[in-house]
Amino acid sequence: MNLRIAYLNPSGKLGGAETSLREMLAGVRAAEPDWDLWLVLGEDGPLAALARQLGVRVVLKPFPPALARLGDAGGAVSLSSLARAAGPAISYARTLAATLDEIAPDIIHTNGLKMHLLGAYTRPERTPLIWHIHDYVSSRRLMSRLLRLFRRGCTAAIANSNSVAQDLHALMPGLGVTTIYNAVDLNRYSPDGSHLDLDELAGLPPAPHGTVRVGLVATFARWKGHKVFLEALARLASDAPVRGFIIGGPIYQTAGSQWSLDELKSLVKDLNLGERIGFTGFLEDTAASMRSLDVVVHASTQPEPFGMVIIEAMAAGKAVIASRAGGAAELFVEDENAVSHPPGDRAALARQIERLSGSAELRSKIGAAGRATACRLFGRDRLAADLLGFYRRVRDESLGTPDLGLRSRWRAVDHGRP
Ligand code: GLC
Repeated sequence: MNLRIAYLNPSGKLGGAETSLREMLAGVRAAEPDWDLWLVLGEDGPLAALARQLGVRVVLKPFPPALARLGDAGGAVSLSSLARAAGPAISYARTLAATLDEIAPDIIHTNGLKMHLLGAYTRPERTPLIWHIHDYVSSRRLMSRLLRLFRRGCTAAIANSNSVAQDLHALMPGLGVTTIYNAVDLNRYSPDGSHLDLDELAGLPPAPHGTVRVGLVATFARWKGHKVFLEALARLASDAPVRGFIIGGPIYQTAGSQWSLDELKSLVKDLNLGERIGFTGFLEDTAASMRSLDVVVHASTQPEPFGMVIIEAMAAGKAVIASRAGGAAELFVEDENAVSHPPGDRAALARQIERLSGSAELRSKIGAAGRATACRLFGRDRLAADLLGFYRRVRDESLGTPDLGLRSRWRAVDHGRP
């Protein structure tokens, strides 16, 4: 049976959840070319074009500004910003409901917190709703309360790691949660392919021959560990043949949750790092940027729910230093296909940078094992098989079961009924 699936995603930019979504779209499209795939975006951005290229029908429905700005990733949400967003969010929900009626999907798959709530509020009756949870929600006070409130609108959930699944179980014990690991495009993230001149992109003179390039590839979210990375670099011996790179930039609209370039540059100055570190800004071709590094660093200071960069670097055949906590710790075996440090431990990170920069043999051994792991566990085909099985199960189980949608309730309220 062909299915029509509507994916709902808040952002059009390519953060981790969007990269994950792109692989889902590509995987499902390749496995089931006749399925009708739709993507409703709360913001325009590169994801729209990427999805269209995959034959996905994209509907742009930009969030009203008050809703776009609302988020609690960077701390507590003020009640006043919530109050300002409530009216626009309700009007937005009504037009989203009309869009979903037109699409008439068999399944709705939401991929971000705001869309989880909007999906639960607006899904047509009897259409199963899947929440795909990419982050720990229990630590976000407002979001966890809202998710619990809207939980009856959700049919089943996907978590991107067992660690995130456990967090959800604790928050919403009755909710069925299945772990489905993300995938990476193994052709794009491959040891073979183009390289970039990272020195030039960072505006630095060419590093001497034999320099080991070590890069943190991440958005500028504050918990991605830029400070720990810079402090680790500052601990290296002044003649260590290492140049660090910060690859990425601020991409989210949520206020207060990310580093500014000025802040990081002034840290570089305080630490006296000089030409030991370069900033390339956001690079479209992440795969080429990773190939141009010798070591890829993941330095999140909080437990990382999954960590796309870890599997991307593995697929690119690079030695990875990961922050060992949360879902990220499920992705590798220490000293076999990656090495790690405890989150926030700048001394331990510095030691791993020293260790890997001192041995080309160790780097290539770990890089090759990482590539093999990515091919075995993190390919698109595996992701598509997991998803298709999940969709069919959700569809079959929800046929004939009483509808738990919330929409009939607010319709009743609209019409003045109890
Ligand atoms: C979110 C998580 C990140 C994960 C990504 C894809 O961005 O914070 O850990 O890699 O989603 O699942």
